[in-house]
Amino acid sequence: MKAIVRTNFDDSVSAYDAYEQRTGRFTALARLLAAELSARADEPFDTVLDAGAGTGASTRVFAERARRTVALDISHEMLCELEGAPRVEGDFDHLPFVDGAFDGVAFTASLFLVPDPAVAAREAARVLRPGGVVGAVAPLGWVDADGTDVFADLERQSRSPTGADAVEGALADAFTVTTGTWRFATTAENVRRFHAIPAMAARLYPKLAADERVAKARELLAGLEGTVEQRWRWIVGVAE
Ligand SMILES: C[S@@+](CC[C@H](N)C(=O)[O-])C[C@H]1O[C@@H](n2cnc3c(N)ncnc32)[C@H](O)[C@@H]1O
Repeated sequence: MKAIVRTNFDDSVSAYDAYEQRTGRFTALARLLAAELSARADEPFDTVLDAGAGTGASTRVFAERARRTVALDISHEMLCELEGAPRVEGDFDHLPFVDGAFDGVAFTASLFLVPDPAVAAREAARVLRPGGVVGAVAPLGWVDADGTDVFADLERQSRSPTGADAVEGALADAFTVTTGTWRFATTAENVRRFHAIPAMAARLYPKLAADERVAKARELLAGLEGTVEQRWRWIVGVAE
């Protein structure tokens, strides 16, 4: 499964950056997460691990707040786009860092992508110093003005859960956590653009090739109109 996630993101660089340039959504999530982390930190950040850094939207946010931010990602192609921070190609489940190396570990829209977030949560606990803070953001989906899931009546290959509960449970087993929900009003067109990212369309059509799944997602969402709400759960924990 991780090899598939890696390939999906390797295929996603240009569509990901186009979506981020248009919406700034991942930058906004990282800023909100950084504020929650700072509020629980016992001192200003010296070192932060941006876990699942992608092309660097979240890295830029943490780099403004810490003396040293390290960007780690499993996707070579995503990481190649990232500038301004040390880059490490690696997996959440085997972090190539010594115990207690970081004051903060941030998973901005990334921890929900692993098969078992408990392994990564334990790794995050290992590389954090005592009193260090971990944060994750995981998707809760999209709802229309009536509060109905916009995908509820749409036929697609996968109805996989969003993963937010698994992320929260895994972090709660390893840390003392606080959680909440962020809601963003957005347009139907932005929902289509989000699913023009091959890695995101893979959550609807996991068995299709990248261009086919993006085309199918566009078709599936063609009738969506107006404004919708995108919801994300945030979880922040403190290491013992
Ligand atoms: C939705 S992107 C978020 C990127 C970035 N944090 C941002 O805010 O723009 C998720 C990233 O997590 C990475 N990822 C997924 N599973 C991973 C794993 N097991 N180890 C490291 N990175 C992983 C993906 O390659 C992808 O770049």
